[in-house]
Amino acid sequence: MSGLKSWPEPVVRVQSLSESGMRAIPKRYVKPPSDRPAETETENHQHVDIPVIDLQHLFNKDPTLHEQTLALISTACKDWGFFQAVNHGVSHDLMERTRQVWRDFFNMPLELKQQYANTPTTYEGYGSRLGVQKGAILDWSDYFFLHYLPLSLRNQSKWPSHPSSCRELLSEYGAEVVKLGGRLLKAMSTNLGLKEDYLQNAFGGEDIGACLRVNFYPKCPQPDLTLGLSSHSDPGGMTFLLPDHDVAGLQVRKNANWLTVNPIPNAFIVNVGDQIQVMSNMIYKSVEHRVVVNSGKDRVSLAFFYNPKSDLLIEPAKELVSEERPALYTPMTFDEYRLYIRTKGPCGKAQVQSLGSST
Ligand code: OGA
Ligand code: NI
Repeated sequence: MSGLKSWPEPVVRVQSLSESGMRAIPKRYVKPPSDRPAETETENHQHVDIPVIDLQHLFNKDPTLHEQTLALISTACKDWGFFQAVNHGVSHDLMERTRQVWRDFFNMPLELKQQYANTPTTYEGYGSRLGVQKGAILDWSDYFFLHYLPLSLRNQSKWPSHPSSCRELLSEYGAEVVKLGGRLLKAMSTNLGLKEDYLQNAFGGEDIGACLRVNFYPKCPQPDLTLGLSSHSDPGGMTFLLPDHDVAGLQVRKNANWLTVNPIPNAFIVNVGDQIQVMSNMIYKSVEHRVVVNSGKDRVSLAFFYNPKSDLLIEPAKELVSEERPALYTPMTFDEYRLYIRTKGPCGKAQVQSLGSST
């Protein structure tokens, strides 16, 4: 863990830069031309979108509709790694209020937010970079990161005490999203031909991990030169993203193209993370995504990460390993895995690919 104790450079809040009214962004936010939004987006004006799946029939079990829903989830996990879920069972009002409370948090004076300033040891709190590489090109965003589960890591004193409803809303929101996560793990297990509770057990049963990263993407005077969040795949199990309602920004890689997701009201954007890619022996893939910013509006998003228990060995399900399809990964705990991204910062899919055994 040495080298992870403090940031290599003074922390600058991107929100402060944005609010200063500067016309040109500092050099350390300027991406190389090949990573800039416009360079790779040339073919992206066709209106292709990630699948939208109505989950209502996953819950009340009309067998035909249930099967149809499973089939849609299966295709989305195999071909896209991403989908938007509607009728997912989480209260729309709760989603709205939770997003608003975080918007209010980021709109508080800087001094209040600074009380929660984070360090690279745990990343919990108010942060402005991922990774401790000195001189790294940074992303145009601030964030707040917190642990929801396991309870032993949940420390409400590290959650914002203002706005005053924040902690309570978070507890409720997390509980509902965790429930949804459990339901989707069942669906994925069934779709993979595994026992219904296989993935849940592989995640540690009741002892899963869960954390929340609230992203704040301030408006940017030169959005074509930078990214709100660099290309990455999510290291954990699966992610439930609550995007902002009226400003897009998330882009998903489909082959060589970056597709901009048009968020559907009250939907979650769900994606497969690296650990499910490993457990499914790459039948499901965690797909690269990134965030672009704009000059007109700040954007808030809540990324809820549903993760395996951090000290379990994660490996491909035996049932998905055969002579024709050998295990593509060697076992590793999620703790070990996560250390890499926390050191290097977001770097596409380099990590899950580097894990692959030589076959
Ligand atoms: C993330 C992420 C996307 C977004 O936090 O991992 O991919 O739209 N966020 O904020
Ligand atoms: Ni992500």
